[in-house]
Amino acid sequence: MLKAAVIGVGSMGRNHARVYRELDGVQLVGVADKNAQAAAKVGSSYSAPDYADYLKLLDEQQPDLVSLAVPTSLHHEFASELIGRGVHVLIEKPIASTPEQAEDLIAQAQRQGVVLAVGHIERFNPAVMELRRRLREGMAGRIYKIHAERLSPYPTRIQDAGVVIDLASHDIDLLRYLIDEPITRLYGETLQSINSDREDMFNGLVRFKGGAVGVLDVNWITPTKIRRLTVTGARGMFRCDLLSQELFFYENESAPSQWDTLSILRGVSEGNIIGIRVQRHEPLAAELSDFVAAVRDSRPPTVTGQDGLETLRVAVQFVRSGKQTEIIVPA
Ligand SMILES: NC(=O)c1ccc[n+]([C@@H]2O[C@H](COP(=O)([O-])OP(=O)(O)OC[C@H]3O[C@@H](n4cnc5c(N)ncnc54)[C@H](O)[C@@H]3O)[C@@H](O)[C@H]2O)c1
Repeated sequence: MLKAAVIGVGSMGRNHARVYRELDGVQLVGVADKNAQAAAKVGSSYSAPDYADYLKLLDEQQPDLVSLAVPTSLHHEFASELIGRGVHVLIEKPIASTPEQAEDLIAQAQRQGVVLAVGHIERFNPAVMELRRRLREGMAGRIYKIHAERLSPYPTRIQDAGVVIDLASHDIDLLRYLIDEPITRLYGETLQSINSDREDMFNGLVRFKGGAVGVLDVNWITPTKIRRLTVTGARGMFRCDLLSQELFFYENESAPSQWDTLSILRGVSEGNIIGIRVQRHEPLAAELSDFVAAVRDSRPPTVTGQDGLETLRVAVQFVRSGKQTEIIVPA
């Protein structure tokens, strides 16, 4: 049995506690939150001791692994404490407030030989997993464009990051994961409409080394929740709804068949619309299973500290681009 704990049991962390409670081979040995009432409520729901002081939890319960779901501005300080004690840690996204903090955490984890995972949960969305598999198989042919939409109402609880670092980091990670090529340039437009000191609307463009273009449309100014991806290639377009975990493929009838790779693409016309079967599961359960397996098998997790760092770097570049009206060519 591995001993697991959750630090920060607000809107995200309480779900980590629920999932650990249900995972095989794991015992939830405690939850901590500076809001003692929140800790007590989650602790009693999942039969785990609760703490207002996370250091006391670490001293008394000695967990093997921890999910860290406190506000982003505390990630570096808390994760450093955990890593220093030899505890494996899954840090909720984004990995930290700055790339320098992220680099420091990665170096600390390497020195201590602990697993450092980052909660870029969309990689565990079964519709994304199926989409990635189909793209790898070449179902869409050469990829021209990937478009991510993540639109939401304003979350008053997020006080320490703007919409690029907090929310678009999901989609930056997804673009990196699905295209899997270096970014050669990027440009962002940001707007502050509700938040007085950070952006709450973001539109971004990226160019990948192989030529594909990424389009990001992410904001906190939409009175409904939308999470969608479309990927357009020579053979057709995938449309993926990340909330309902649905995946469709719109065939380009004019495209040469998959076996006729030497033919030239002559045009684009509407073909069949194929609904692709997705085996649904809870992304968080898959993410925490992967983290626990990485600890048990001493292997890297699916989303490493380095992934978290690369994504944060791009997010920070987008914020800069938006502030300075500047096209950025990453080093
Ligand atoms: N992966 C996802 O889809 C996803 C979704 C939401 C949030 N998040 C991330 O999770 C983290 C938390 O976000 P949230 O939405 O759950 O916020 P939240 O405000 O709902 O929860 C944060 C919790 O941390 C507690 N906390 C604050 N300071 C503390 C301290 N010093 N000691 C112990 N506990 C402390 C707060 O009391 C609160 O309960 C953020 O990094 C956020 O980006 C990830």
